[in-house]
Amino acid sequence: MDESYRKLIDGNRRYALEKRYDDPEYFKKMSIGQTPEYLWIGCSDSRVPANEITGTQSGEVFVHRNIANLVIQTDFNALSVIAYAVDVLKVKHIIVCGHYGCGGVRAAMTSNTHGFVDNWLSNIKEVYNKHAAELDLIEDFDKRSDRLTELNVIEQVKNLSKSKVIQKAWRDRSLLVHGWVYGLNSGLIKDLNVMHEDKMDIEPVFRYNV
Ligand code: CO
Repeated sequence: MDESYRKLIDGNRRYALEKRYDDPEYFKKMSIGQTPEYLWIGCSDSRVPANEITGTQSGEVFVHRNIANLVIQTDFNALSVIAYAVDVLKVKHIIVCGHYGCGGVRAAMTSNTHGFVDNWLSNIKEVYNKHAAELDLIEDFDKRSDRLTELNVIEQVKNLSKSKVIQKAWRDRSLLVHGWVYGLNSGLIKDLNVMHEDKMDIEPVFRYNV
């Protein structure tokens, strides 16, 4: 039997010990509740852990991750996370963070099948199709996938702005939606400077009377 899972339990023991050593009250404080200011929507990729790459601690970032950091209007999972983060936790910032070298993005650019996940990846194919005029001019596959990664983040920022829960929040308070891309080979985050903060940031047909 593969015992490699034990590494995680051992790691957890060390983690708990170290935290208690630094601050005996640490877990008591943690158990009181959370007041994160940020909602992170990132890729499930094991190399892009939200807290670790942003130097943030437990309790600071509410996190939703899925393959290729998509915000789909019929995804009850993502919409529930977003609604809870915005309405209840009252986060001040939502960050969609993609990453260069994203396997989901790259897979969506090919005609190969990858099983059930193809249904999910079809959303990225739509993004590609929308921006085909620009993307088809980039011959190099890696460069083209990097640009699609950026365009995908921009589209997901827009998808957030199209949701009623975000527009309702904008009516009452400040809420900034950011689009970032993380570089696996540099460890650095690039801000795409596509911030949305008002329903005027999206096309009229998507604006609700809220
Ligand atoms: Co990815």
